[in-house]
Amino acid sequence: MQIIIYDDAQQVAISAAQWVQGLIKEKTHPVLGLATGSTPISLYQELVKQYQADQCSFTNVTTFNLDEYHNIDESNPQSYRSFMQENLFNHVDINTKNTFLPTCEQAQNPRNQGLAYEDKIKQAGGIDLQILGIGANGHIGFNEPTSSLTSRTRIKTLTQQTLTDNSRLFTAQEEQPTTAMTMGIATIMDARYVLLMATGKNKAQAVKDMITGAVSANCPASILQMHENAVILLDKDAASALEDHSYYQWADKQNRKLNEEFGFYHNF
Ligand code: GLP
Repeated sequence: MQIIIYDDAQQVAISAAQWVQGLIKEKTHPVLGLATGSTPISLYQELVKQYQADQCSFTNVTTFNLDEYHNIDESNPQSYRSFMQENLFNHVDINTKNTFLPTCEQAQNPRNQGLAYEDKIKQAGGIDLQILGIGANGHIGFNEPTSSLTSRTRIKTLTQQTLTDNSRLFTAQEEQPTTAMTMGIATIMDARYVLLMATGKNKAQAVKDMITGAVSANCPASILQMHENAVILLDKDAASALEDHSYYQWADKQNRKLNEEFGFYHNF
């Protein structure tokens, strides 16, 4: 795991945007895994800014989102499709035909939908860079604690904690879905690089469990300890429960020196 601690959330977003730009520039047909939630919004704002300044183009980019609510119409403002359109797709030159979410409507079989999503990712050549946030309970995507560490795209029942955490995003009139389709933990682990963004004090314990706890289904994000290329971008608040703060900062300094000398290395 590469752990990088920034002063604030804005720097986390800028750094994540640099990773996405790096991918888009290096690969002819980049495949990007996307996340929803409040954390990556500032990343999407950065990408839109860069696109508007002619610094990047999304014409050849294919995207796969981590998750989508079960049985929700894509036109529903609460759907993750609407979230992605609003925060990124409507503002850049991406072909929406190349943007995928693990949808499952009422009459559809969630098992078949999950398998089809896995196939689609394979056909695209696999995910080069997967953006992740983290739930306060350590979930990634909607892989709640106790999710199988070898799971694939499937339907999950959300925990009470996740429902409570996300209830701020729903008005009293809106019905909050309690089930969702999500990439599995093994699906996420197949990505060539994973880039997890975490900001704010309410993520400090989950971040600590992810980085220094045992690898356990009780903290699904802890599986990233087993990923060859996991980069964790934190602001100071999200890093505040880590004991080895100064070691991570020192290691990051050393890495920057190496990058200056030998060039920044990705292997997408
Ligand atoms: C949601 C999403 C996750 C996201 C997490 C944290 O439930 N399914 O992909 O990472 O919760 O969200 P936020 O960034 O709003 O804290």
